[in-house]
Amino acid sequence: MYGEYIKKVAALGGGKAMIITFGCQQNEADSDKLRGMLASMGYIPTECREEADIIVLNTCAVREHAELRVFGILGALKALKRKNPSLVIAVCGCMVQQAHIADDISRKYDQVDIIFGTHSREKFPQMLYEVLSGRKVEKDLSENEKDLGEDIPVVRKNKFSALVTIMYGCNNFCTYCIVPYVRGRERSRKSDNIISEITALVADGCKEIMLLGQNVNSYGKDIEGECNFATLLRRVNAIPGDFLIRFMSSHPKDITNEVIDAMAECEKVERHLHLPVQCGSDRLLKIMNRRYTCDAYEKIIAYAREKMPDLSVTSDIIIGFPGETDEDFEQTVDLLKRVKFDSVYTFIYSRRKGTPAYSMDNQVPQAIKGERMDTLMQVQNEISKEKNKALEGTVQRVLVEGVSKNDDTVMCAHTSGAKTVNFKCDKSLIGQFVKVKITEAKTFSLTGKII
Ligand code: 5AD
Ligand code: SF4
Repeated sequence: MYGEYIKKVAALGGGKAMIITFGCQQNEADSDKLRGMLASMGYIPTECREEADIIVLNTCAVREHAELRVFGILGALKALKRKNPSLVIAVCGCMVQQAHIADDISRKYDQVDIIFGTHSREKFPQMLYEVLSGRKVEKDLSENEKDLGEDIPVVRKNKFSALVTIMYGCNNFCTYCIVPYVRGRERSRKSDNIISEITALVADGCKEIMLLGQNVNSYGKDIEGECNFATLLRRVNAIPGDFLIRFMSSHPKDITNEVIDAMAECEKVERHLHLPVQCGSDRLLKIMNRRYTCDAYEKIIAYAREKMPDLSVTSDIIIGFPGETDEDFEQTVDLLKRVKFDSVYTFIYSRRKGTPAYSMDNQVPQAIKGERMDTLMQVQNEISKEKNKALEGTVQRVLVEGVSKNDDTVMCAHTSGAKTVNFKCDKSLIGQFVKVKITEAKTFSLTGKII
């Protein structure tokens, strides 16, 4: 059925398509599939709203800020649709998987033609065909997809780096988080499919593979007889070719010594562990339903650093979770000082309707959240700078990713520890490995010289 509608839309002549992606790398990977479907239906990509025949917003629901940006863009698209009534506007992803938001959009934004949730990707061609044929389509918020969409084509932004989803969904229900409600329970892809996909990517010149899941450490648990994440890492590492492996995200309650051993022993796996701790108060970790203590967390890091002394460790911190006291916050600051992360993503707690934390009555005032954020960033920035300083004078083999944001004679890449490094080199080296000597460490990046 899905293939049939791809052909039907393609027969209508195609056009230009723009995809705007919000949120995490999982969403970026989903957009690669949307790009794949649009390409099969005869659409060529554009980055210009005015020349697009279809605009797809692939949305995020993790924090309110991302949702407000989508509403802002939808408002702006109203005028564009007035000028170009044949423009098709589609909204998909986590934000519209929430029924109250999808209802709001269909009621208040009549410029939107298509709404589909995270489980209905393969319905997109059919919905598009209906709209192009002049019919109105109902939004699709199904909660169970037919399959994991293995046969949906994937078109990636570049050839040398690929996001490869290994599992969808999350079973953890951290009390602040909307993800399990909008992405459903954990569903792993078959390891044979993952290995075939990566083998083909590498044969086609891909040099960096990012394995993706909300909690990659529970990979395989939902499929009888499937391998676990440590074994998957070893199998990916054994694929012949010169390429790097990264993965994201890990949950501290599920990461095992076996995974750390596999990381340490696999030469293609980069020396970076992103292990979100969320906060340094055992009392709050319990209310967050994280199911580990700070002590257990620090033991994992100690084991990982013992196995890989050059390991870079990064984390996520939530500031202002309901009921966070000055003492809880101090404990988070102390944890940062003890663990000395290479860098930390700090998020101000955002109330998400439908989650348990939404209705906790001791919400932290915005001003206090802001002050705590400033304090935490000051502490972490010093640690990050000190960690980066230790890399000065070292030589790093990196994959040239593209032109740096601020200067188009400067290229950027990431070190094995996932730190941004900027250096002068010819654009023709984009997509190639080069060796770079680190000449200067800053708080958020490194500067280097190609050797
Ligand atoms: N508010 C703020 N940050 C959140 N995260 C998840 N839910 C929320 C929320 N409601 C953060 C967590 C997670 C990261 C991807 O987003 O730190 O690890
Ligand atoms: Fe959200 Fe927790 Fe699942 Fe991560 S592990 S996606 S924070 S519920």
